[in-house]
Amino acid sequence: MKKIQGNDVICVDIDKNKVDKLNSGQVTIFEPGLEKLFLRNQKEGRLHFTTALAEAIKDAKVIILALPTPPGEDGSADLKYILGVADDLGKIISEYKVIVDKSTVPVGTAEKVHAAILKNAKVPFDVVSNPEFLREGVAVDDFMKPDRVVIGTTSDKAKKFMNDLYAPFVRQGNPIIFMDEKSAELTKYAANSFLATKITFMNEIAQLCERLNADVDMVRRGIGSDERMGRRRACSAWTASRDRCAQSGYGCGNRARTNTRQTDCARVRSIPALLREERPHQDDRRYDRVVTTAHHQ
Ligand SMILES: NC(=O)c1ccc[n+]([C@@H]2O[C@H](COP(=O)([O-])OP(=O)(O)OC[C@H]3O[C@@H](n4cnc5c(N)ncnc54)[C@H](O)[C@@H]3O)[C@@H](O)[C@H]2O)c1
Repeated sequence: MKKIQGNDVICVDIDKNKVDKLNSGQVTIFEPGLEKLFLRNQKEGRLHFTTALAEAIKDAKVIILALPTPPGEDGSADLKYILGVADDLGKIISEYKVIVDKSTVPVGTAEKVHAAILKNAKVPFDVVSNPEFLREGVAVDDFMKPDRVVIGTTSDKAKKFMNDLYAPFVRQGNPIIFMDEKSAELTKYAANSFLATKITFMNEIAQLCERLNADVDMVRRGIGSDERMGRRRACSAWTASRDRCAQSGYGCGNRARTNTRQTDCARVRSIPALLREERPHQDDRRYDRVVTTAHHQ
């Protein structure tokens, strides 16, 4: 949940301790540029924190769900937090709302959220899928100047709300890409899988470099200057360093506050020799594993 130009933002969390800290001006995570932005908007009365969901959403036009989706034992995302809040929202919304899913969720979640709200809702609403592509360490910049904004909705009304919300951040011509809900959900998984594949590929190249006494940084620069591959993302994760991995554009792990959780990056690194060893008939099974690694980004 974030400050959006020209909007009042009320953030709701069940963690009272976190809410108290935030209300007293303490930022609970570190991201370059975040504290300044946070304090300015708090001082100017546009940013509030509370544990009271019903009160917070009373006048909200757009409700953004940024709830945890921890991986279950089989690696699939656990939707209990999202569906729990969707259930609550159905009971308390009293006028049209756009309810935006920003968590990373499996394809079909928008439908489930819609059904959970609909069970009790007495007013119209739309559920929108709006996946997040921020990179750890440059999240504020990525939000202010996104490469693109992906919005999944088939409702014209919701589309207009979302367009107004993001308009200030796409003035430099970076696109808002509208699509249906499922395509938006899949875009996030596909992007994560693609970036994970690139990291796996560069790991393979780094291994080869070690064996052949070649310089992986030079190889990376050599292939990265090809526009079809992209300088920013052709990076090796071979050093097993979170920092280097983050440079690749694949957000390895979450913010500092979640560093005890197993990170995607670690799981990506545990995939053995994906591109080099696999035979075509094994690809589907392996592809499933790559997708699983992307679940919690
Ligand atoms: N952190 C990132 O950089 C990033 C980037 C892209 C996508 N995502 C996705 O965004 C989602 C949230 O990630 P995060 O890193 O912010 O998670 P997080 O666990 O750090 O924060 C989630 C917050 O939700 C609160 N919460 C839990 N249940 C609640 C409820 N019923 N009502 C209100 N608040 C509740 C928790 O107390 C916690 O403060 C996940 O799906 C994640 O995969 C995160």
